[in-house]
Amino acid sequence: TADTKVGTKIFLIGMMGAGKSFWAEKLKKRFKVPAYDLDSLVEMMEEKSIKEIFEEDGEEYFRKAEAKMLRLFSEKKQFIVSCGGGTACYNDNMKWMNKHGITIWIDEPVEVLSERLSKEKSHRPLIKDLDDEALNNFLSSKLEERATFYDQSAYRLSGDKLSETAFSKILAGHA
Ligand code: S3P
Repeated sequence: TADTKVGTKIFLIGMMGAGKSFWAEKLKKRFKVPAYDLDSLVEMMEEKSIKEIFEEDGEEYFRKAEAKMLRLFSEKKQFIVSCGGGTACYNDNMKWMNKHGITIWIDEPVEVLSERLSKEKSHRPLIKDLDDEALNNFLSSKLEERATFYDQSAYRLSGDKLSETAFSKILAGHA
C-alpha cells in the first residue's frame, strides 16, 4: 500500500511559517517514514541555535552548514525532510534535492504566513525585529524573490490542494 513505500525521499520546501515541520510530522505518522527537520539538524551539528549561528557566524556560514547537512541525505533510503525557508534558494540546493528526492512546495499565502509568524518571530533571525506591517512586507518581497526557486519543485501544494490526500497521491506515484 501507499503506507509502506520503500525509498520514499521527500523534501518539503517553502516559506517560513508555511507548515513544513507540521506536515513532516503528519506524514511521518501516516507513511511511517522518518522525519527530519533541517534547522534542528544544523543546530545539533553546530551546537547552537539558528539565532546564535546568524548572530555569531553570519548568514553565509549558516547557508554553508545548511547545504552541508542537506547533502548527508544522499546516503539515506527513506526520509521526509522539512527544510528551512531559504534552503531551496542557496548553493544549488534545489537542483540537488530534485536529483535526490521528491521536492514539494508547501505554498501558503502571505496573509497566512504573517498571521502565524507574528507569534513565532523570536527564534527566527530574519524576522525577529519586525513589527506586523514590516513582517508582511518582508514576507511578500521574500516570496516574490524566492518563487523562482520554489517553482522548480516537482510538486506544489497550495490552497485546498494542501491536504493529506494530496500528499498520499504524490507518494503513491513514487514507490
Ligand atoms: C529561514 C528560515 C528558517 C531558518 C532560518 C532562515 C529563511 O526556517 O532556516 O531562520 O531564510 O527563510 P523555517 O522556514 O523553518 O522558519
